[in-house]
Amino acid sequence: MKKYSPWRLSVAPMLDWTDRHCRYFHRLLTQHARLYTEMIHTGAILHGGAERFLRFNAEENPLALQLGGSTPSDLAACAKLAQQWGYDEVNINCGCPSERVQRGSFGACLMAEPALVADGVKAMRDACTIDVTVKHRIGLDKNEDYAPVRDFVGALAQAGCSVFIVHARNAWLKGLSPKENRDIPPLRYHVVHQLKKDFPSLTFAINGGLQTNAQIQEQLQHVDGAMIGRQAYHTPWDLTTWDETFFDAKPSALDRDEVEETMVCYMEKEVAKGVPVLTIAKHMLGLRNGVSGARAWRQVWSDHKRKELPPRMIYQQAQEAAVRYRFGE
Ligand SMILES: Cc1cc2nc3c(=O)[nH]c(=O)nc-3n(C[C@H](O)[C@H](O)[C@H](O)COP(=O)(O)O)c2cc1C
Repeated sequence: MKKYSPWRLSVAPMLDWTDRHCRYFHRLLTQHARLYTEMIHTGAILHGGAERFLRFNAEENPLALQLGGSTPSDLAACAKLAQQWGYDEVNINCGCPSERVQRGSFGACLMAEPALVADGVKAMRDACTIDVTVKHRIGLDKNEDYAPVRDFVGALAQAGCSVFIVHARNAWLKGLSPKENRDIPPLRYHVVHQLKKDFPSLTFAINGGLQTNAQIQEQLQHVDGAMIGRQAYHTPWDLTTWDETFFDAKPSALDRDEVEETMVCYMEKEVAKGVPVLTIAKHMLGLRNGVSGARAWRQVWSDHKRKELPPRMIYQQAQEAAVRYRFGE
């Protein structure tokens, strides 16, 4: 099998979405795409309990831990833990524009502090041997000059970072919510392509607004990889096409029913440990998108009145609802 970049295709880190249950589900759909945790603050890991924030299912690798934070010694301590826990990569978030994150002096506002991020990268690289990567935007606020992002990448490359995941939009630090900051600042893919031209030996994965395999293929003409966020979450069945299309590998042999059945077995184990069933089920609500009866099926799996039922009973009721829909009841 041809050797592809480990960053050729990945599912984006998404707070409240890409938790370990979601990643377990995604891994049933693609064996080769890289998965990312939600952003986890270094302070939470160091003071709130590594076990709580770092544990994951053995099936999830290749897996990256995304950190929020800016203090080099904290980033380094978390990188060391990431390696001990079995992550393949540790990534610094330099793209989140939320006000809370700005108050904590991390996320997108770090793009204005390349020297500090470079110190963080150096400290992390000294503390671990797994990949240290950075996810960032292409600029801050309304400044669309190329020089700041070029110099940001240059400074981090000098510190030893060789992999950059670039959300191809500016982050507007004032006046937009995080959600608006994922839609309103215009996408400028050519900036990421230019970074690849200027730093050909570095790895660049492009992110933002990619929805179809054709769009991903087009981007792979210019950069080393693509990262998919919302489309992957809302339309997870797309992930079943990725291994064959992008990695020349065998696609998953599971059909939708088998994926659901596997998730129910997983839920049974997790519920026994005290995890609420809907906490897991919410991530697979898009599984049947585009298939007849999907809405009726989804309504059952998202119904709070059923939250105390055993997962297998909800499963049967969801399947029955879809069948009833198909037969027009
Ligand atoms: C609900 C949600 C939560 C997100 N949380 C994070 C996060 O924790 N870390 C991060 O780097 N980006 C986060 N993002 C941004 C995504 O990683 C990605 O950069 C963005 O959605 C653009 O890609 P897309 O158009 O493919 O969704 C989040 C996005 C969404 C929709």
